Amino acid sequence: MHDERALGVLARLEAEDADERERGLPPMLRARQVAPTTGRFLFSLVAPLRECRVLEIGGSRGYSTIWLAAGCRIGGGRVVSLEHDAAKLDVRRANVADAGLEAACELVDGDAFETIPRLEPPFDVCFLDAEKDDYERLFELARTKLRRGSLVVADNVLSHEETLGAYSRARQEDPTLASVTVPLDRGLELTAVLG
Ligand SMILES: C[S@@+](CC[C@H](N)C(=O)[O-])C[C@H]1O[C@@H](n2cnc3c(N)ncnc32)[C@H](O)[C@@H]1O
Repeated sequence: MHDERALGVLARLEAEDADERERGLPPMLRARQVAPTTGRFLFSLVAPLRECRVLEIGGSRGYSTIWLAAGCRIGGGRVVSLEHDAAKLDVRRANVADAGLEAACELVDGDAFETIPRLEPPFDVCFLDAEKDDYERLFELARTKLRRGSLVVADNVLSHEETLGAYSRARQEDPTLASVTVPLDRGLELTAVLG
């Protein structure tokens, strides 16, 4: 990624995230953003695709949204990012604008369980990064908006293996999916929709 404007915002968000962790803020008050290498992974996944439509569930303050939108923009694609925490909505909007990526993002405010049913399908890629206990239900809901060949990337499957191990196993045992755990950073479950 060579966009200096977006890289500047990402660097600031990385510094803010490190500061929040160092001060020991409780998780619900932190950005809880993906690791920088996961951000680069998401960028690399979508950058080669033409007119890629990404559904992001759990946008927080916009860190992963910016990586995804910067990648999508190359091929004329777009990210629809869902977030419900009122304390984060204005900040993420400002971060995406500072990065110059407003045109490549649709920021949807509200609970994903309510907003997903209203979204126009299909999406090519879904990035799932919300509360771990909700992954199963959010996957099933998001699946109604995917098509054959869509990809779902779920974060934290190794860092929260006690909760998300079952999520990975269910995806890997489903004959209508092809799924593998990628041991990058906190662990990504990469799931292709076959049927
Ligand atoms: C781990 S953080 C996401 C970090 C973000 N992907 C990033 O890398 O910058 C999880 C986010 O999901 C949001 N979230 C959790 N459940 C949600 C739901 N049902 N609908 C919308 N947002 C949700 C939380 O408010 C939180 O900001």
